[in-house]
Amino acid sequence: NPPDPNQILASLLSVAKKAGNVILTATGSSKGSLGTKKNSADLVTETDKAVEKLISSVLLDEYPGFSFMGEETYQPGTPLGPEPTFIVDPIDGTTNFVHGYPYVSVSLGYAVDRVPTVGVVFNPFTGVCYSAVKGQGAFKETWNFAGEDEGWKARTEKERLPVGGAKPLAGLDGALVAVEWGSDRSGSNWQTKVDTWNRLGRSKDEGGAMIHSARCLGSAALNLCAVAEGSIDIYWEGGCWAWDVCAGWTVLREAGGIIVDGNPPAGGKEGWEIPITHRKYLAVRGAEQGEQRTKEVVKEFWQTIEGT
Ligand code: IPD
Repeated sequence: NPPDPNQILASLLSVAKKAGNVILTATGSSKGSLGTKKNSADLVTETDKAVEKLISSVLLDEYPGFSFMGEETYQPGTPLGPEPTFIVDPIDGTTNFVHGYPYVSVSLGYAVDRVPTVGVVFNPFTGVCYSAVKGQGAFKETWNFAGEDEGWKARTEKERLPVGGAKPLAGLDGALVAVEWGSDRSGSNWQTKVDTWNRLGRSKDEGGAMIHSARCLGSAALNLCAVAEGSIDIYWEGGCWAWDVCAGWTVLREAGGIIVDGNPPAGGKEGWEIPITHRKYLAVRGAEQGEQRTKEVVKEFWQTIEGT
């Protein structure tokens, strides 16, 4: 039997602190040489690889026999199995990391039967850490780095998500929406992104949804957690991988939000869930407005971007 998920949570929180320390102290040339993957906008540094190595060795040492799926060591085509699996992006927001833009996270997910079960998303630059265990709610806390000897210390109490004060989402025209550019820049993929921004932002007279504004945090995991806390209403992206979303998925679901792709069928919430390997995600905050309103917002979103 897999261990108690709270034990996994404790392990993920501990390794997030170790990884955060490495990321935080890797500045300038100590980030390591910069490499690219599929094109010149798809970046990887030696720090990404070193942090993944650190995380996998700590976790697999503690949980021998578990599977590990990490961005930097993934072998294309390897399927996600039902066995307990750590699904990890060592630096989600590599482009931000390279440029010094402080929205970077260690994304530590854990899935059983392919279902995201525990998630920790930690931004070492802001000290904000989101965490969740399936069935136990989602939380946010802030840590301070108190130096090599003392490590990370709690700066705030744990706060349950969504944070108070979030109002029900009236519709797209009142929404703050995260839409990422990603690194695919060619052909129809790029055109789809441009058309999506155009339809969401344009005035209603000109056929758009007139959203309040759009954001691009540069980290899929942080986008999902922003939806979970209620500071962003909707997040839409095609092209992410399981390691970008697994940890944030548990955080968002536990905060009452949903992740879907496609028009909501007549059935309940479970009927329109998608697998974490789906690679196209529409995340909507939910707890404050109830399931019916959430479904209407999903429908409005799809009507707005239909045909892009
Ligand atoms: C990327 C970030 C980015 C998203 C990309 C991801 P990486 O992950 O999450 O926000 O737009 O789809 O690949 O490469 O920084 O780990």
